Amino acid sequence: MTTDAAPERLLFWAMAYKLSELLMLAERDGALAALERGVGVEELAGATGWRPDSAAIVLTLLGRAGLVEHDAGRYRLSPELTRYRVLLALEQRLHDWHRSRDSLRRALVSDETNDPLDDLDDPAFVAAFAQAMAATARETALRVRKIIGSAGAARVVDLGGGDGSVAAELAGLLPAARFRVVDRPALHPAFQARADGANHRIEFIAGDLRDAVVVAGAVRSADLILLLNVAHLLADHALDRLLHAARGAAKPGATLVVRDMFRQDDGPLALTDLMLVDWLRCGARFCDDIADFTARLKRAGFSDVAVRAMPGSVDKFVTATVG
Ligand SMILES: C[S@@+](CC[C@H](N)C(=O)[O-])C[C@H]1O[C@@H](n2cnc3c(N)ncnc32)[C@H](O)[C@@H]1O
Repeated sequence: MTTDAAPERLLFWAMAYKLSELLMLAERDGALAALERGVGVEELAGATGWRPDSAAIVLTLLGRAGLVEHDAGRYRLSPELTRYRVLLALEQRLHDWHRSRDSLRRALVSDETNDPLDDLDDPAFVAAFAQAMAATARETALRVRKIIGSAGAARVVDLGGGDGSVAAELAGLLPAARFRVVDRPALHPAFQARADGANHRIEFIAGDLRDAVVVAGAVRSADLILLLNVAHLLADHALDRLLHAARGAAKPGATLVVRDMFRQDDGPLALTDLMLVDWLRCGARFCDDIADFTARLKRAGFSDVAVRAMPGSVDKFVTATVG
């Protein structure tokens, strides 16, 4: 993927943002939507307002990046990529937000946090965020269902459960279960909009996961505690506090399921490495590898810690038992 062995790899990485910039623009100008359907060069030019010779260059580059397939004059976004499109617009907004605050530099020199989610005063941003998170909800729910098997999951708590999309998908798979979604107050309108009051088995608790009292209260009667794509958003001490509070308050035998990306020190550079930059600029500085995280869970008093890789993804699921 990169010019690993070449001396110009310093330039390669300095300039890698150019492809990101092109990709973001392709999303904004409707090129990726057109490519999802499949288009020829002229058609892409028509859909975007781009010059046909420019469109041809973009298609060549996206093809070389492995994003676009080409067959008999027609170009198509590789089908497995389409569900991630919604994340591009979000990524652009987050990028702009961090840029405007000089987050990366501030995180490098201070212990401030620069979490855009602490600054959720824009309902359009919250709605876009919730929609982006929901894109993977079905897949996540299916994986969680597979991991917990037939074990009892009568009461499920989803810590950092966003607008409740994962809970809603799981509710369809676990018809007898009741759900609690804990997230910031700003996510409540998105929860209400998504749920439309229809699923009375899912309740929303507005609270801060950095508050041990909130966490302990939420997990008290739970059989299953979910922490999906959340650990990396919490500073070291806040994550430890959450895990201690959850383990201390939950019923013995309850299961914790964590999903996250964990630092890898070998193998090709991957999405996880880019996410480390993200978490650094937020001030969370999460950089556990799987051994660090396993040790963290054991320190918090969890037992039976097990790790499951996800085929085709850099994410991992980690399960552990209370008591
Ligand atoms: C990346 S999203 C993951 C959403 C969902 N769990 C999923 O996997 O699709 C992280 C969620 O954690 C929530 N979150 C992060 N820090 C939080 C905090 N300190 N208190 C409450 N919620 C928090 C965010 O608001 C957001 O909804």
